[in-house]
Amino acid sequence: VSGSGKPLGRALRPLFELAAEGTFLNHGSFGACPRGLLAEQARIRAEMEAQPDVFFRRSVMPDQGDTALRTAVSRLAAFVGARQEHVAFVENATLGVQSALASVDLAPGDRVLITDHTYNAVRLMVEARCAQAGATPLVVKLPLPADPDGIVAAFERALAPRVKLAIVDHITSPTALVLPLERIIPALRSCGALVLVDGAHAVGQLALDLDALQPDWYVSNAHKWLFAPRASAFLYASPAVAATTRPPVISHFVGMGFPRSFDWVGTRDYSAWLTVPAAIGFHEGFDAATVRDHHRRVLDAATAALLAVGAKPVGPIGLCAAMRSFVLPQRRPATREDALATARALWDEERIQAMAVALGDQLLLRVSSQVYVDAEDTVRLGEALGRRGWPGR
Ligand SMILES: Cc1ncc(COP(=O)(O)O)c(C=O)c1O
Repeated sequence: VSGSGKPLGRALRPLFELAAEGTFLNHGSFGACPRGLLAEQARIRAEMEAQPDVFFRRSVMPDQGDTALRTAVSRLAAFVGARQEHVAFVENATLGVQSALASVDLAPGDRVLITDHTYNAVRLMVEARCAQAGATPLVVKLPLPADPDGIVAAFERALAPRVKLAIVDHITSPTALVLPLERIIPALRSCGALVLVDGAHAVGQLALDLDALQPDWYVSNAHKWLFAPRASAFLYASPAVAATTRPPVISHFVGMGFPRSFDWVGTRDYSAWLTVPAAIGFHEGFDAATVRDHHRRVLDAATAALLAVGAKPVGPIGLCAAMRSFVLPQRRPATREDALATARALWDEERIQAMAVALGDQLLLRVSSQVYVDAEDTVRLGEALGRRGWPGR
């Protein structure tokens, strides 16, 4: 499977199952898996059905040495700049973050640092874990509009004793900001915090070199920007924490420790994980610089289209990779219902997918570029917002 050799944009839509009538500007939420990779997953499933015993015992179960699963992990580990013994597949970022969080021994009085842009499910799990342990969440407020120095300063100001763990996004979900981790991680370490990076959107959208970045844990979804089938993600645990990183599910191989204890989580469909090497191949079929230029063109077009209806970017283009978020002006404070209604109306009445979310009292709209998106798609979004009353709502 390869996407190379064709111009980027709508010409690549036939590689995907995306409904013909739709304008898809929300790759960020759930990804979109190319037809060729779904076929590869079907081939792996057929192998599983042809000889279930051989498939599970030799390809997946971690006590068999060089399993197909470990070979797939090796390919992924090399792609993200890590060694395979530090990388485990998990189903999704939610599970990866939860496993790392559960592996930290929190004591009463400890703090867990997150930000006001932290993904809602992650905030909820931090609150639950802190309540259990007598620890306290510490929420860093990031500046909006954002700028790199302001972001780093916000983390530095928040640093307090007893921050046991800091959870930092690589790319924030509501605001699509690429956080300057190379400055933030050393600052967090200087106060003794363990650092868990939530890179749910990162693999495939940013080039990763985890050995150089040096987080304690790093989580990312292969099913978003790496094009892999859904329920494929990974958890990286550094040499310092691998031995204490506990699997989300206790099963036969728990005694093997990280990462093999993560490889078997009971009988399930392991085909998405085994498709990840093919997904990396598909991704590498595109020239990285060409894709970067394409995303920039799409996001510049989106910016022009949204400025025309009164929307403002949440930060400079230098903090964007393949997504950009905008504040949609409203006369009254935005609510979650406003965001849901906006996204629903865009699809129901305009056949456009874009992610809307309320952050504080502001209504945000996030636009994703992707290899199958044209700049023209974002013009359609601007026109649709104009029809729905912007500016001046
Ligand atoms: C920053 C961030 N963390 C975690 C997640 C959860 O990902 P998943 O639903 O694949 O577990 C998302 C999903 O969009 C996200 O944006």
